[in-house]
Amino acid sequence: MQKTIDELEAKREQARMGGGQKRIDAQHKKGRLTARERLTVLLDEGSFEELDMFVEHNCTDFGMADNKVPGDGVVTGSGTINGRLTYVFAQDFTVFGGSLSERHAEKICKIMDAAMKVGAPVIGLNDSGGARIQEGVASLGGYAEVFQRNVLASGVVPQLSLIMGPCAGGAVYSPAMTDFIFMVEDTSYMFVTGPDVVKTVTNEEVTQEELGGAITHTQKSGVADAAFENDIDALLATREFFSYLPSSNRHEVPEVPTDDPWDRLEDSLDSVIPPNANQPYDMHEVIRKVADEGRFFELQPKHAANIIVGFCRIEGKTVGVVANQPMVLAGVLDINSSKKAARFVRFCDAFEIPILTFVDVPGFLPGVGQEHNGIIKHGAKLLFAYAEATVPKITVITRKAYGGAYDVMASKHLRGDLNYAWPTAEIAVMGAKGAVEIIFRKDADDPEKIAAKTREYEDRFANPFVAASKGFIDEVIMPHSTRKRVALGLRKLRDKQLENPWKKHDNIPL
Ligand code: COA
Repeated sequence: MQKTIDELEAKREQARMGGGQKRIDAQHKKGRLTARERLTVLLDEGSFEELDMFVEHNCTDFGMADNKVPGDGVVTGSGTINGRLTYVFAQDFTVFGGSLSERHAEKICKIMDAAMKVGAPVIGLNDSGGARIQEGVASLGGYAEVFQRNVLASGVVPQLSLIMGPCAGGAVYSPAMTDFIFMVEDTSYMFVTGPDVVKTVTNEEVTQEELGGAITHTQKSGVADAAFENDIDALLATREFFSYLPSSNRHEVPEVPTDDPWDRLEDSLDSVIPPNANQPYDMHEVIRKVADEGRFFELQPKHAANIIVGFCRIEGKTVGVVANQPMVLAGVLDINSSKKAARFVRFCDAFEIPILTFVDVPGFLPGVGQEHNGIIKHGAKLLFAYAEATVPKITVITRKAYGGAYDVMASKHLRGDLNYAWPTAEIAVMGAKGAVEIIFRKDADDPEKIAAKTREYEDRFANPFVAASKGFIDEVIMPHSTRKRVALGLRKLRDKQLENPWKKHDNIPL
């Protein structure tokens, strides 16, 4: 018996060595951890339970029959993060470059199926040379099996992708269909075709980093949600991020006990709005002062920064925050910010996370570029997302809520549950100057009359009371009491029930 047990231990030890010490050293030299090291950082100590450790590929072409490594380039199983179950896969670059074979894909599919069955998130650590070249179409089939599961799992269990090495070609589409993508700076990249193919087809010269590095995807393309300096930072941030996510669409949001009083008053919020309506202020300050312990996990902070999205907690429970940012493009809605916020709102709605919206929006961004690139359809995404969302929706208008953007930003008319305004709110079709220039165009050469009419328009609309008199605003609240009001509102809305009419699915403008 002891001999058999020793043999098993020896086999396990061999599997744990992946592609061997030389390749492990090479991985370390590139500043990257191995798959198993990454899982050690990500999961609670001793919680990882591996599955399919001895699975091998079934390829016989190109000398592969004699070239088998137990585990076949991916470590799969389950573990816990702060005691909560998650399923994981970590591609092992030391084994055939982490490339995806039919069996490698089957291992990933197995843990995705298990996660769906029990209602637990799936976290994928991607580090792979793509489809296993020796296997041809079998590996492509494997990808499609994973893609299919990504789609079926979407909205059922949260799916997170960490890109921690290469991720190219078809391999990018699995992360693309997951809910969130985190990348590691300098050592990870994602592209559909690499720099060489780009050079051949379009004659553009570009480095891997410029084409699909962490900076590119978190600033320009918006493909990724956050970038971290190294593997450890990315994995520790994932642990923190995980604490905000419900395990599935059947589970409630997790609760993290807090000592922050629910009725904490924040007097500094009474002076956060500058005296001049065109002066910016940092909406992060408002969010942090309302959130438990000032903590806010922001997503895509450097992409479309004119809108802020992320998670905070109120009374220990997760809340999704969407907020216009007056510091960037005056907080205007444009194509990128609409897309960014729409996807976030849909994630929150799918997983029953209440949405708190802070509004200071001068409208949609005018311009030929915006119109020609489809602001109508892209702006409609955010409108659609808010309108279909049935989760508790609390809105606080801090300053401007102009034009169609007023409607879009979780207004009363889109089934906002509690719509508050600060006394500094201005709710109108547009700013006074623009409005008067249009309705009193014939008086354009009478500056005195224009100035008088501008004052009149300001007096009438540069406040929340017209909207409040119509019931579009439920209450004009003191800025210092915002946390208390929001916390009370969320308590009352905890058992909210609202269903959309039956349909196969909607047809959100894509
Ligand atoms: N299929 C099979 N083996 C692969 C592979 C793939 N798609 N990608 C990498 N490998 C193997 C390499 O043969 C090498 O094996 P070895 O250790 O036995 O020599 C090992 O993985 C590491 O690859 P290497 O090229 O030495 O690493 P690198 O860091 O210099 O480069 C890549 C990484 C991903 C840029 C490079 O391996 C590559 O271009 N791979 C092919 C990508 C591709 O076209 N995939 C198919 C389309 S999706």
